[in-house]
Amino acid sequence: MHRFSVKDDLQAQVAAWKAAGEKVAFVPTMGALHEGHLSLVALARTHAQRVVVSVYVNPTQFAPHEDFDSYPRDVNGDAAKLASAGVDALYTPDAAQMYPGGDMQSPVQAGTAAAGLETDFRPHFFEGVVNVVYRLFDHVKPDVAVFGEKDFQQLQVISEMVAAQSLPITIVGAPIARDPSGLALSSRNAYLSEDELVVARQLNVILRRVASGDIDEAQASEALIEAGFAKVDYVAQRWGRVLGAAWLGKTRLIDNL
Ligand code: PAJ
Repeated sequence: MHRFSVKDDLQAQVAAWKAAGEKVAFVPTMGALHEGHLSLVALARTHAQRVVVSVYVNPTQFAPHEDFDSYPRDVNGDAAKLASAGVDALYTPDAAQMYPGGDMQSPVQAGTAAAGLETDFRPHFFEGVVNVVYRLFDHVKPDVAVFGEKDFQQLQVISEMVAAQSLPITIVGAPIARDPSGLALSSRNAYLSEDELVVARQLNVILRRVASGDIDEAQASEALIEAGFAKVDYVAQRWGRVLGAAWLGKTRLIDNL
């Protein structure tokens, strides 16, 4: 596996692959990789001869009070997992590569998919996501990019951005990887205690009851509090999905189905 931290070096390799007639699929991540991320890598592999993964904890999508500093980081562990998964190149840019001269202005705006849901609780979030993803796409220049349905609104926002900018990139959504209890895998699950994990496992169970029509969104919010969640940001239906976000202590979990 190649490892690049400088945009020009990565671009030279991608250009060589493309010149040889090979397609390039890209999986952007913030690291602390788990089986969910690796399922995106496996899906990317079915779309292209070459797979590039980035690991970059993007400061512009965190508000000052959020967990940017404490977000789990393990780039060597990540590199080992990606090498075993047969990834062709790992891109680990630093802030100077992503935001040269400290210019953090976004070249693009998030569109209508960003309205509501996550934005009601993390108003800065999708501006930061489109900012970094647009820049990463410019660095990697992939043919295909894979995003998880775990972050369903993010997948919609990225698809909309790619269409609005007419980028020649096919966006592929990957199904949510879950543990045997149904809990969606997440880097933030690493924050949870054993007791909190027991509660966390109720999130998908309760959202499923909304999907089946057993309870409505308001009843689901009550059920989440009864199950032990500290606060519910939302339970809502959109894009034919039931989506939820709730807090366990200082950890915010999201899921949808
Ligand atoms: P991160 O949270 O690291 O997620 C990287 C990708 O993995 C996203 O597309 C996310 O939806 C997907 N993913 C995470 N858990 C998953 C699961 N259990 N099943 C399926 N897919 C899963 O999302 C981000 O990083 C960032 O916002 C990023 C797009 C990299 C921009 O900084």
